[in-house]
Amino acid sequence: MKTRIWIVPVALLVLGGSLIAHPAQQPAPRPTTAAAPAQSAFKPIATVREVMDHIIIPSSEVLFNAVTSVAGPNGVEDKAPSTDEDWAAVRKQAILLAEGGNLLMVPGRHIAGPADKSNNPGSELEPAQIEALVAKNRAAWTKAAQGMIESSLLAIKAIDARNPEELSNAGGDIDAACESCHVTFWYPNEKK
Ligand code: HEC
Repeated sequence: MKTRIWIVPVALLVLGGSLIAHPAQQPAPRPTTAAAPAQSAFKPIATVREVMDHIIIPSSEVLFNAVTSVAGPNGVEDKAPSTDEDWAAVRKQAILLAEGGNLLMVPGRHIAGPADKSNNPGSELEPAQIEALVAKNRAAWTKAAQGMIESSLLAIKAIDARNPEELSNAGGDIDAACESCHVTFWYPNEKK
């Protein structure tokens, strides 16, 4: 009986002490995708095609072309960002590309408009077919979008280190990330 009297106050002291010492570490319930309400707070405006055309294609083009070696009349000419403005300009595009990956994950975004058709029917799926594939395999879609974000982060890291070679390597990773989504959802029939 005597020991029991002590157990409670000691436990309360330990608990109280930890609350005071680590208020930020209190495990707050974290919402998960499974627990999220069916109605998303997002309001997708653009189609995936428009996100490609207006954000992902232009921003990736800048990154792909930021570091080049071109054979000209005066030999090989290396081009890379050099001034503060150059680096700031490529960084802006890397940020747009990374956040473009988040846009692709917004639930409820259509692949293309209701009247849009595939530009290369036969080799590419129709938008409605892509939409059905994504609905069936949402996890792979999410993973592909995340892969593009990760490779964009490599570009941001290279830019912050002002390392043209690493930026060029990140460009290769970005290209592979684009392709991995396209071959799964856009032209899966080309899969080898
Ligand atoms: C998570 C998937 C995904 C990722 C990542 C992705 N794309 Fe796409 N992309 C698509 C889909 C799906 C379409 C087909 C949309 C359609 O039918 O109009 C598409 C279409 C395109 C098109 C054709 C657009 C048009 O107007 O016809 C281009 C070009 C393109 N993507 C480039 C890229 C580039 C470059 C990257 C990487 C920097 C990239 N995409 C990353 C899914 C993705």
